[in-house]
Amino acid sequence: MQRREFLAALAASCASPCIAPGEALAAIPAGSGRRLYARALLTDDRGKPLRAAALARERNYLFHYPYATTPCFLLDLGRTAAAGSSGAWPGGVGPNRSLVAYSAICSHQLTYPTRDISFISYRAEASPQNRHARVIHCCSEHSQYDPAQGARVLAGPAPHPLAAILLEHDPKNDTLHAFGTLGVEMFDSFFEKFGFRLALENGAQNVRKPVADEARVIELDNFCRQQVRC
Ligand code: FES
Repeated sequence: MQRREFLAALAASCASPCIAPGEALAAIPAGSGRRLYARALLTDDRGKPLRAAALARERNYLFHYPYATTPCFLLDLGRTAAAGSSGAWPGGVGPNRSLVAYSAICSHQLTYPTRDISFISYRAEASPQNRHARVIHCCSEHSQYDPAQGARVLAGPAPHPLAAILLEHDPKNDTLHAFGTLGVEMFDSFFEKFGFRLALENGAQNVRKPVADEARVIELDNFCRQQVRC
């Protein structure tokens, strides 16, 4: 099959709304466990297109995708996250391939960042409870994920990696789009477990509302009143 036919087949096979085929999508083989969602431009806290260069290295950023209530981490790891280091995960994007995004819902028992408190975040430094540096660490039961390797599990009871959020970087404008997920999604379990709380906080009509054209990125420090360190 010619490349053009391959991309056309991909475009025809995904549910609406869907992304235009592109290099980022073509890099992830069909059958890899990818799921395509709306192609959403990542914006800053003023609603302007987020420039990748504006992201601070190793700082926790949060956005919601593919639903209005499902949080994700956006990280500039400050180092290359190579493709192929973990299954079909395509690696980081951006000029240095250092930009990655993952669902912020722990695969163990669904701990996630709320506006009140977060037990899970990226930690650059090791600690007494966290012998690995540069990991996403869930303080609930100390699951640790390597964001440079598709969020594979390094420690703790997590049964599988965090779901990766598929990103596309536009080198011309230095902007980012999210367009899908890869890996085991926890969204149905998340809605089942926290649906009541999410409805109180966001309105029942917004709990499973799909993100459409854009997703606003905010520093975790500005989203969450208290972060638990461990
Ligand atoms: S919920 Fe994250 S380690 Fe248990």
